[in-house]
Amino acid sequence: MRNNYTIRDEIQEYWSKRAATFDLQPGHEIFSQSERTAWQDLLIKHLGRGDNRKALDLACGTGVISHLMNDIGFDVTGIDWSDAMLSKARQKSSDRQTDIAFFIGDAERTGENDGSYDVIVMRHLVWTLVDPQTAFAHWFSLLKPGGKLLIVDGDFVNNSIAARLVKTLRIAFEGKHLAGPLAKSPEMQAIHQSILSQVYFSNGAKAKDIAAMLKHEGFENINVQTRLTAIHRAQSSQMGLLKFLERSIQNRYAICAVKPVVPE
Ligand SMILES: C[S@@+](CC[C@H](N)C(=O)[O-])C[C@H]1O[C@@H](n2cnc3c(N)ncnc32)[C@H](O)[C@@H]1O
Repeated sequence: MRNNYTIRDEIQEYWSKRAATFDLQPGHEIFSQSERTAWQDLLIKHLGRGDNRKALDLACGTGVISHLMNDIGFDVTGIDWSDAMLSKARQKSSDRQTDIAFFIGDAERTGENDGSYDVIVMRHLVWTLVDPQTAFAHWFSLLKPGGKLLIVDGDFVNNSIAARLVKTLRIAFEGKHLAGPLAKSPEMQAIHQSILSQVYFSNGAKAKDIAAMLKHEGFENINVQTRLTAIHRAQSSQMGLLKFLERSIQNRYAICAVKPVVPE
C-alpha cells in the first residue's frame, strides 16, 4: 500500500491507463455524422444553442463532449484530472483548430469562480463521484442564475434481467475475443470493481436519487430523460445489434436541472 493513496488517486490512475485506447471505442468517441447529430440534438434540446455562452465540461476526458458543445456554439472549458486524457483532448482541439480551454483539476472542487458558467455538462462522471452531495452544491454555486446542469450517465449496477440476458447472449454470440485489444484486462476489471466498491454510488447511480440530491441543493425544473434511443441507434452501426439492444435497455439517462434565477 502506498502512503496517502486515496480512491481519488485510484480513479485518476485508472483513467490515465485507459486514455491510449479510449477514443477507439464506440460509445466514447463518435464515428458517424448521424451519431454526432444525435448528441447535438440531445444537448440542444436541454441546453439550447450556445450563442457564445460559457460551458464547463467536467471530467472532459478526451474532449468528446467539449467538442460537441463547441460545435453548437458554446465557449467551452474542459476540466479533467488525467493528463493522459487531457493531452488527447488538446491534440483534437489543435487538429480541429478550436479554442477550447482544457485544464487539469478535480471536478468535485474545481477552484472556478462562483456564478461564472451558463451551463455545466458531464458524461459518465457522476457514477464515480466520491462526495456527490458536496459536488452538486459546488456546481450549483458555479452556475449563473438561470444556468443549467446536464448530467449524462447511467446506473450500470442494477441492470434489468432483460439487459443481463442480452449481455449474456452478446458474449455467447460474439465471443470475448471480438472485443480484441479494447477488452478490459482482468487487472483493469479488478481496478474498476475496486473503484466501484468504494464510491458513493457503489449500489448504482439511480436517476431518481440524483434528481433528489440536486433538488436538495436548490436546483429546479429537473428533467430526467431515460430514452437516448437516437444516440444508441446511431451507434449501432459500429456496435452491432446486440450491443445496441443492451445499451438501449440499460438504465442510461440524461438529467437536466436549472439553477433558479432567484435562489430561495
Ligand atoms: C468515462 S471517462 C468520460 C470522459 C468524457 N466525459 C466522455 O464522456 O468522453 C471518465 C473521465 O472522468 C475523469 N474523472 C473522473 N473523476 C474525476 C474528477 N473527480 N475530476 C476530474 N476528472 C475526473 C477521468 O479522468 C476520465 O477522463
